[in-house]
Amino acid sequence: MTAPLLAFDALHYRYPGADTPALCGASLEVRAGEKIALMGRNGSGKSTLLLHGNGLLRPQQGVVRWRGAAIGYHREALRTLRSQVGLIFQNPDEQLFAATVLQDLAFGPLNSGASEQEARKRAEWAAARCQIEHLLSQPPHALSGGQKLCAALAGVLAMRPLVLLADEVTSGLDPWMRRNVLSILDDHAAEGGSVVLSTHELDVARCWASKIALMEEGRVVHVAPPQEFFTSSTWRARIGADLWELSDATPTQTASSKT
Ligand SMILES: Nc1ncnc2c1ncn2[C@@H]1O[C@H](COP(=O)(O)OP(=O)(O)OP(=O)(O)O)[C@@H](O)[C@H]1O
Ligand SMILES: [Mg+2]
Repeated sequence: MTAPLLAFDALHYRYPGADTPALCGASLEVRAGEKIALMGRNGSGKSTLLLHGNGLLRPQQGVVRWRGAAIGYHREALRTLRSQVGLIFQNPDEQLFAATVLQDLAFGPLNSGASEQEARKRAEWAAARCQIEHLLSQPPHALSGGQKLCAALAGVLAMRPLVLLADEVTSGLDPWMRRNVLSILDDHAAEGGSVVLSTHELDVARCWASKIALMEEGRVVHVAPPQEFFTSSTWRARIGADLWELSDATPTQTASSKT
């Protein structure tokens, strides 16, 4: 098995003033080419874990490793880490801040030393990939929720990171945009990168992921291929799949329509 690119090793984290910890011993390894669906109930710690992946949060115990070495938290180390590990926030309003979408997308490359011409080229490439070229001159606040998600993803893609930490980027997208975003994530993994996508969407976890990592109460309790999760009655129940029949339910089969 190849060595992990990014590893979360027994992380503990309690938010300031919180009564209970958000992470209590969370571990996960992310290897090149992997597409990991990070699942778990609301509040189980998915976003908190991802925020540790590019050093936005610092664990109170445990270590985050990049290519085997503990990450540093000084400015230069974080800048280097963030050029390799891109995080798309669950709430894109926390990510988008520039006057126009184009400026937002070009900010990351400019900040990491690209020329203006190169930064613009990368921003336009990422916008085309995310199908938001027509929005480049708009202020981010004028975008719809789904358009903001796509712009936030484009901003991270423009940095060309190796690992994408995508916090629920497919929720709130229409079927066409969702398909496009999943194909971007597929291509990213196929080109040797890796993706951790936190999601509540069972069909995404089942059909898109190479592995599912399940979080419960601040820990990753199980990591396995989707097939194992969906065929085991225990794991099906623990990801909530037994509450919902995925592919067979049609409107005519629902209880409410059987009058
Ligand atoms: N900024 C914060 N300050 C205090 N507590 C927080 C903060 N953010 C999250 N928490 C707490 O940390 C725990 C884990 O939250 P987190 O956002 O990581 O969950 P999640 O698995 O991403 O949930 P969701 O599926 O709803 O996005 C929760 O108990 C939450 O209340
Ligand atoms: Mg979350």
